[in-house]
Amino acid sequence: MNLSSKLPSVGTTIFTVMSRLAADLGAINLSQGFPDFDCDPALIDAVARHMREGRNQYAPMQGVPVLRQAIAAKFQELYGAAYDPETEVTVTSGGTEAIFDAVAAVIHPGDEAIVFEPCYDSYVPAVEVNGGKAIVIPLRYPDYAVPWDEVGAAISPRTRLIMLNSPHNPTATILSAADMQALARLVEGTGLVIVSDEVYEHIIFDGAQHESMARYAPLRARSFIVGSFGKTYHVTGWKVGCVVAPAALMTEFRKVHQFVTFSTNTPTQYALAEFLAGKRGYPELSAFYQRKRDLFLELIAGSRWKPLPSRGTYFQLLDYSAITREGDMDFALRLTREHGVASIPTSAFLYKQAPPLALRFCFAKKDETLRAAAERLRGL
Ligand SMILES: Cc1ncc(COP(=O)(O)O)c(C=O)c1O
Repeated sequence: MNLSSKLPSVGTTIFTVMSRLAADLGAINLSQGFPDFDCDPALIDAVARHMREGRNQYAPMQGVPVLRQAIAAKFQELYGAAYDPETEVTVTSGGTEAIFDAVAAVIHPGDEAIVFEPCYDSYVPAVEVNGGKAIVIPLRYPDYAVPWDEVGAAISPRTRLIMLNSPHNPTATILSAADMQALARLVEGTGLVIVSDEVYEHIIFDGAQHESMARYAPLRARSFIVGSFGKTYHVTGWKVGCVVAPAALMTEFRKVHQFVTFSTNTPTQYALAEFLAGKRGYPELSAFYQRKRDLFLELIAGSRWKPLPSRGTYFQLLDYSAITREGDMDFALRLTREHGVASIPTSAFLYKQAPPLALRFCFAKKDETLRAAAERLRGL
């Protein structure tokens, strides 16, 4: 049967390709963004305990109350933002589901969504499969600053949505207070909705403050804010995320969520609620990853790899222009095959602009993994 594709330009993602290649060749995998170390064993014990105690049936569609309450309490404490756990907080099956549902709730056929490239690979397909058009605005190498003038010029009567991500994958840049003010000026008096992907909110370096949309009342009032427990608790495979938004937006979000997954697995929600309510894990996460970033940079110092500033996330872009002028996809493949280190080419996150000579490396790895990878990288 010949099905007309709704996403004709989408193939297997580069993350799958590089992770598979790394596994086939026994290369060190600094490509896909996941830790190669385990989570806190107490978190696993908590999940097992909740399973044994019989919390194994469907969770409520919006998430278990204790987890929603803990999420709301965290937003109040960290960002001074009041969200009602009953009507303004929903637990999802990962940040990716939250992003998809938010886009699906807002985008009607023919609507436009402003997306900045490079961007996480689910944004544009989420817009397109819902009949929308992604208006892609390039963030330019090497500083990747948001060109707010261009954003203003790109807003049309069809624009419904602006999608933002800070700390940013893959560039490891962060939005500043000045960015938030520029954004607030642009959206004032419009009906624009914001999807703010803040899955790396707890991984931010050098004393910087995470500029959540939740901190700014005029932005909060029009934002879906997306979080991911996978990133925060080293459990990307559990696929548990969340979204907060004002009640009117959340009502529409939940209409989609209840028919995409209905609800998210029950025992992990109870365990994550205990950790979140007990303020475990996330307060020290920035320091934990900053040490890993610094170790990785120290280990490759003096080599021909040139690091770009990594201000948040667990990613590091490395400029390789002193090594070769090969395109980033070719070089990433050759680096995996010939030197045994897998990375991600930034072209995987681009739609319009030519890729720079830089690769993304994930440093959410054991120190010995980083040491072994750095030794190979230093040889180039
Ligand atoms: C920027 C960004 N947004 C969203 C996600 C998805 O998070 P989750 O694994 O919770 O679906 C990721 C995961 O890599 C990401 O990097």
